[in-house]
Amino acid sequence: MRSKVSIIGAGMVAGTCAQRIAERGYADVVLLDIIEGLPQGKALDILESAPILGLDFRITGTNDYEDTANSEVVIITAGVSRKPGMSRDDLLLTNMKIIREVSTKIVQHSPNCIIIMVTNPLDAMVQLALHDTKFPRTRLFGQSGILDTGRFRTFIAQELDVSVEDVSAYVLGGHGATMVPLPRLCTVGGIPITELLPEEKISSIIQRTVKGGAEIVSLLKAGSAFYTPSAAVMEMVDAIILDKKRILPCATYLEGEYGINGVVVGVPVKLGKNGIEQIIELKLTPEEEEALKKSARAVQEIVSIMKLE
Ligand code: 2OP
Repeated sequence: MRSKVSIIGAGMVAGTCAQRIAERGYADVVLLDIIEGLPQGKALDILESAPILGLDFRITGTNDYEDTANSEVVIITAGVSRKPGMSRDDLLLTNMKIIREVSTKIVQHSPNCIIIMVTNPLDAMVQLALHDTKFPRTRLFGQSGILDTGRFRTFIAQELDVSVEDVSAYVLGGHGATMVPLPRLCTVGGIPITELLPEEKISSIIQRTVKGGAEIVSLLKAGSAFYTPSAAVMEMVDAIILDKKRILPCATYLEGEYGINGVVVGVPVKLGKNGIEQIIELKLTPEEEEALKKSARAVQEIVSIMKLE
């Protein structure tokens, strides 16, 4: 039986996710939005590319949650994105209402699915959906670390003029100003970047990474990044549907790992058919650990505004 992946919201991240996942060929894709015609139009446009690409995927656009029933994976992209000058946290109250409604409906129709959150402010939205759905943390987590790490890897590869394939890196923490890029664990062909680049250069790459989302927002002027976020989601869906057991940074609810309890932040996890199959605890230096805890406190502050109890 083919897998089913549903995407909630039919904006730019959702549309590019739908295209990327449909083109993988392993799953039927359902694209859902409350706006009539938008998901149907995008799905039909993607479907009509199938003969040209020589692929037999199925993709449907809908306004009805019934069509998402029994999905293996559901990706939540619904909500508003920021405008120039806004932080992700400025979206909290608007997106909170949307995520509450969406996550309840998803669970009614796909009680056993794995949910990947993409809506910002990311970590807080994961925490909200966990609270409302009562899903285990293994089946509800967020996409952000792969995107932030993708930016970090891109800038390092550009600086050293090497293939992105040879750059490994980690960005941990919340998806915001306190995210924690880890240069100590960043290598190029196995060589630590601390041996390849001067400290000031590494520091400016880190700054650009942290502000990477805002850089795109200020260039686009309307809307935020979608090509890299959708590529990041696709990597997570691949890991789940193909049971790849990838080690990827994901936003997950910590229960004592890294000395952090009861808050969602990005850490490396093992991702396979059961969702998060293991939380990987890297050995951090005291400075790195403090930076991660500071990031967790920043997420906790945003979460506390929602008054979840
Ligand atoms: C970003 O960092 C939209 O949060 C997303 O680009």
